[in-house]
Amino acid sequence: MITGLSHVAIAVPSIASAAETLARKLGLMVGPIVENVEQGVRLAYVDLGNARLELIEPLRADSPVARFLERNPAGGLHHVSFNVGDLDAALAATAEAGVRMVGRRGHNTHGQPIAFLHPADVLGALVELEERRT
Ligand code: CO
Repeated sequence: MITGLSHVAIAVPSIASAAETLARKLGLMVGPIVENVEQGVRLAYVDLGNARLELIEPLRADSPVARFLERNPAGGLHHVSFNVGDLDAALAATAEAGVRMVGRRGHNTHGQPIAFLHPADVLGALVELEERRT
């Protein structure tokens, strides 16, 4: 069902500040900032070759990422994103296994279907499933 690691996401109060930190401390180059209005976030990616690092910053005060930053003001690990070949099939399989979905199905900035799985049902970690048809 899961075909690979898409990205690991870190929520930050400021992508610009985070980009400066990653460049200075780890030599990582952060790509352009994009907005995902549907998800209520601004994002930027670091291409790591085999996967990406996703920096997410809230676009609205009522976004889930804004609530995460209220609990973790300096930012922190937010979710891990796995690729799946067919999101509907993956959600059917995880639901069958008793895993709840968080919120609704949505789309990433590339238009790929995504969904989040409830941390309480997956080892305490927020998991994103991202459809990538090959
Ligand atoms: Co993500």
